[in-house]
Amino acid sequence: MIKKILEKENLSPEDLLTLIKIDNPQDLQLLFDKAYETKLKYIGNKVYYRGLIECSNICIKNCKYCGIRRDNKNVDRFALSKNDILDISRWIYKNGYGSLALQSGERTDKEFIDFIEDTLKDIQKISNNSLGITLSLGEQTLDTYKRWLKAGASRYLLRIETTNRELFKKIHFDDDLHSFDKRLQALKDLRTAGYQVGTGVMIGLPDQTYEDLVSDIIFFKENDIDMIGMGPYILHEETPLGQSSVGKILSDEKRFELSLKMIALCRIYLKDINIASTTALHALDPLGREKGILAGANVIMPNATSKSIKPKYQLYRGKPNLEDDAITGKLALEKSLKSIGEEVVYFKQGNSPHFYNRTK
Ligand code: 5AD
Ligand code: SF4
Repeated sequence: MIKKILEKENLSPEDLLTLIKIDNPQDLQLLFDKAYETKLKYIGNKVYYRGLIECSNICIKNCKYCGIRRDNKNVDRFALSKNDILDISRWIYKNGYGSLALQSGERTDKEFIDFIEDTLKDIQKISNNSLGITLSLGEQTLDTYKRWLKAGASRYLLRIETTNRELFKKIHFDDDLHSFDKRLQALKDLRTAGYQVGTGVMIGLPDQTYEDLVSDIIFFKENDIDMIGMGPYILHEETPLGQSSVGKILSDEKRFELSLKMIALCRIYLKDINIASTTALHALDPLGREKGILAGANVIMPNATSKSIKPKYQLYRGKPNLEDDAITGKLALEKSLKSIGEEVVYFKQGNSPHFYNRTK
């Protein structure tokens, strides 16, 4: 039965539900093989890097699952200077990564908006405008998105976290700062501004159902999303959700497996989009990123932030490679990707083919 479904060109919501519920190794392998075949068809045996810069862990939000939420007083807050960011950007550029990603907690004050705008311009200067820049800096206004795009960014990642409104309310506070409708509007604004738009969800949240995850995949399609970054939910004991969900979520192995299934289904269903094999997968399995690629992902975001900063940016516990320099990680990853038949593409941005297809 699974074989028959996988032969279809277009899957129905019922098909997606059947596939996400697969519970035996043979059918699971069929699913991953189909997803990888689809990746080869639309992307090739290629992996694109985005050198990740964790700019600051200062955040105005209080998401109940996140280790750097505003109310966590145990966090040693930092913000990299423009020079720090430019140094790391130079390293990324010199090492042939075609793209970088700036990520930080959310801030919407003028100083922050100006700082990012200024930094983006300088990053493009040092790279002769050749780097693809992804931003992951939270909800902003349309005007801010436009300014940052003009200053040199071209992609934006803003996760919807879950498309189930009730679940969204449970894992955030039900207030103006954490509003589902505002998040939806922000995704629309990003499109209006002209970004390649990325979103994603956490997988294996308490009370999240298979139906919820299928609705997430359909949401990505209906909103014509260009890129997806998603991964397993991982507890952080200094957070309200981390404390209340002990014993109430699937095992690490099952959340990991479910995340791979989500990647595979997104590849099969959405075909020409970029999908990241995220660090959260790596946190649950030392070969998590490679397994994500074999399930259909095509983007990896190696952490380029210095090892003195990395431990301060812990959204969840068990963040991998905290002791490694960027260069150590780079060589090891390249070797293991090669061993699974994948080639890392250097000096190219690796934009979402879907973005070109929808805008040409
Ligand atoms: N487990 C997994 N992912 C998390 N994020 C935040 N906290 C956690 C956690 N405990 C993810 C969210 C957010 C992204 C920056 O990190 O999806 O959008
Ligand atoms: Fe802030 Fe993002 Fe963490 Fe929410 S998930 S508290 S917005 S860093």
